[in-house]
Amino acid sequence: MAGNAGVSGQRDKDLLRFLTCGSVDDGKSTLIGRLLHDCALIPDDQLAALERESRRFGTAGDDVDFSLLLDGLEDERQQRITIDVAFRFFATPERAFIVADTPGHEQYTRNMATGASTSELAVILVDARRGVLPQTKRHAFICSLLGIRQIVLAVNKIDLVGFEERSFEEIAARFSAFAVGLGNVSIRAIPLAARFGDNVTARSARTPWYHGPTLLEHLHSVEVSAGGSKGPFRFPVQWVNRPNGEFRGYCGTIASGTIAPGEEVLITGTGRCARVKEIITFGGRLDRAFTGDAITLTLGNETDVARGDLLADPDASPEFVDQFAAHVIWLSEHPLVPGRSYLLRIGTRTVPATVTALKHRIDVDTLAHLADRTLELNEIGFCNLSTAAAVAFDPFEVNRDTGSFILIDRFTNQTAGAGMIAFGLRRASNLQWQTLTVGREQRAALKDQRAAVLWFTGLSGAGKSTIADLAEKKLLASGRHTMLLDGDNVRHGLNRDLGFTDADRVENIRRVGEVAKLMTEAGLIVLCSFISPFRAERRMVRELTQPTEFIEIFVDTPLDECIRRDPKGLYAKAKAGRLEHFTGLDSPYETPEAPELCVTTIGTTPENVVEHVLDELRRRRII
Ligand code: ADX
Repeated sequence: MAGNAGVSGQRDKDLLRFLTCGSVDDGKSTLIGRLLHDCALIPDDQLAALERESRRFGTAGDDVDFSLLLDGLEDERQQRITIDVAFRFFATPERAFIVADTPGHEQYTRNMATGASTSELAVILVDARRGVLPQTKRHAFICSLLGIRQIVLAVNKIDLVGFEERSFEEIAARFSAFAVGLGNVSIRAIPLAARFGDNVTARSARTPWYHGPTLLEHLHSVEVSAGGSKGPFRFPVQWVNRPNGEFRGYCGTIASGTIAPGEEVLITGTGRCARVKEIITFGGRLDRAFTGDAITLTLGNETDVARGDLLADPDASPEFVDQFAAHVIWLSEHPLVPGRSYLLRIGTRTVPATVTALKHRIDVDTLAHLADRTLELNEIGFCNLSTAAAVAFDPFEVNRDTGSFILIDRFTNQTAGAGMIAFGLRRASNLQWQTLTVGREQRAALKDQRAAVLWFTGLSGAGKSTIADLAEKKLLASGRHTMLLDGDNVRHGLNRDLGFTDADRVENIRRVGEVAKLMTEAGLIVLCSFISPFRAERRMVRELTQPTEFIEIFVDTPLDECIRRDPKGLYAKAKAGRLEHFTGLDSPYETPEAPELCVTTIGTTPENVVEHVLDELRRRRII
């Protein structure tokens, strides 16, 4: 949701982007079809076809079925774009509109996040017979979370409750009571019969008690305060164009504010400023560029600006920290696990990031804050995040573009979550690295060895601990300084608060990874024996350590054999239903894809296996 949805800039103040939500039965397609028709925006030939089709397939009797107009676009739309959101452009003499239509199926959060991220107003439909449903509240909450401050509650099918004022007022009152919890959101309820056009573009004689605007009047008059060009200058650098030694241009799209040659920009995070020399576009040079413009900037003084940097107004600089609090909407079937490494993309910058704490999950029906360990698909939480390097941002409330990010799954490369930053956590930015005189190399040299992490992974009962133990014995015998971290043992102390849920296993490995890293800094050869079932965390430990330091050793004993051996009787216990989340049974083990070493334990002895391991260490000149 970060970035632009592909529709051009917001310079034109007469452009209103809005979104419709509600389920098919609420009459969403009919409403938009009716709106286009009554604004005389449907070409004659299309209208004639629509009338023909309505007679054949429609559900509106002799009347035109406007929902067919949009359904007709469906096929075409599904072929062209992968995200199930259709953006439609239309214009009246007063204003231009971009409407995002988001289908209401179970992936609705993803669709809404896509549709709402650029919208200023949401039309939330309810069926007058059914009133405010849990889904209505859910949509309203997500819209408000995504920065929409204007909501139209379209109370549709008012004809089916006899155009009754009381029904309308009740629904409007109930929704307003809920919306108090959404904060600064303005609500306009309108009684509609979209099928017949009542209060869509023309005031209905059948609702004489309603004195408010028609839907179109409201869409025309509602104030658009998208921030847009009004905010301070923000320019995420998408790429650096250096065709030759002479020219260096910074390309990107202005996220907010305006810029002109001669003005100064701050290179966020460096404290340095530069003066804009030229603004270049496909159409030629510009005297001033505005929000939404795709431009290339050249800067006066020699500067070192890289892709992913944010150029900003020096008098209104963004925040620059590596820890912040944010709302996160989870969009993946694989739950969010605090401690796991994801890629965070904000603007044009991508950095590894973890959720360090899930402060609470939000119940979207009641807005209650609940304690939880993970977020599942479509769930929303408030989290602390930590990024591998500081990033520039504005709070989402101030700037929806520079205040939002996505989280990407590092294995599937798919968008796993969308986030809205609330505030930076300054604690972190007050910490610095203390320079120390003695380093890892000196400590290792004193021991006449190179530090390393031997990471034994495999199923419970695979033989990891036996092999690691024997390997350490041999290393010690040859005068090496070692340390062995073993799953069962570490769980008696440092990790005694952790169990075997996915989230706990992630945290288990994260802590062990940090400890192993400290031990390599002490110059030790660290042997780690952990099931460590997830690729993501094994990779995280690998990335914590130095490039050639991490040796992943897959103890590849098949599940059947582990069950047969069952040294601790745990498989039997798990099979009897007395132990949950047991790896290989009801909890997954992700086989290493490219371990440094893969050993089998069948038809050989631990001594042989350990010889293999030591050979590998010699080959890598660790010993
Ligand atoms: S890990 O998955 O988080 O890496 P770790 O290696 O620390 O696991 O601990 C695994 C050890 O805990 C096993 O060898 C076994 O003795 C014990 N254990 C207890 N319950 C479970 C379980 N549900 N799944 C796996 N191991 C368990």
